Amino acid sequence: MNNLISSLFFGVKNPEFLQGIQQAISNTSPEGIYAGDNIFTIGRNLSFLDNEAFVKAWKMHAETQVEHAIVWRIYVLSWLAKSVLARKVPGDFVECACYKGISARIICDYVDFINSDKHYYLYDLFEHDDAMTHHAMPEHSTTLYEQVKARFATFPNVTVTKGFVPQILDEVAPEVISFLHLDMNNAAAEIGALERLFDRLSPGGILVLDDYGWRAYREQKLAEDPWLAARGYDVLELPTGQGLVIK
Ligand SMILES: C[S@@+](CC[C@H](N)C(=O)[O-])C[C@H]1O[C@@H](n2cnc3c(N)ncnc32)[C@H](O)[C@@H]1O
Repeated sequence: MNNLISSLFFGVKNPEFLQGIQQAISNTSPEGIYAGDNIFTIGRNLSFLDNEAFVKAWKMHAETQVEHAIVWRIYVLSWLAKSVLARKVPGDFVECACYKGISARIICDYVDFINSDKHYYLYDLFEHDDAMTHHAMPEHSTTLYEQVKARFATFPNVTVTKGFVPQILDEVAPEVISFLHLDMNNAAAEIGALERLFDRLSPGGILVLDDYGWRAYREQKLAEDPWLAARGYDVLELPTGQGLVIK
């Protein structure tokens, strides 16, 4: 039986919360548990953990506790990316922003991206100091950009670009997009990316808003809902916290 048990619950400061979850698991021994990334399920199939190609790619590239705990989110991305290729939706893949490039790297393995006819455009600032407004991440550093480029060194169809979204998109961006993943924890940057890229998303193309369902990033949902509604789209909030739009 598949179980994914992590103690990673974002924003939880009370240790009794985690003890409660641990107790619920050990007292009742349920099956089909996903505990982590602010999700708690029992009695689920968790079919993605039976998907050998996906699990192999995830285990190969996930390095940290976070990258293990968010496996359901990464599977959602991987499934959607594969569906875009299977449905032959025209256009390239875009991720704003990629941080260490872990999700994108897992997707590349899972969908055999190197043998696809598409290009993957990855953006990030890769570093952080107090003068910068974006969210600091534990592995931001002056060398992260080079590390991410090295992670994709064997992929001629992946371009890693260092720069500030949305402005950098005026310099480097595909004309036609099939898969657009926004994950910047910042409403202004994501609306700026939508302004520049959403019209380039092909019919049948996928938009994933990583932070859409999270209370801590509610400002993004409040900006994105009216922006997308004005164009006739309603975002599906997934149990993983991601928001999904099919163009
Ligand atoms: C949560 S991380 C992204 C994680 C990544 N999508 C993944 O799946 O592994 C958010 C990233 O957004 C980047 N970011 C935030 N605002 C940005 C902006 N305006 N331009 C470029 N990158 C930005 C940060 O540097 C950070 O690395």
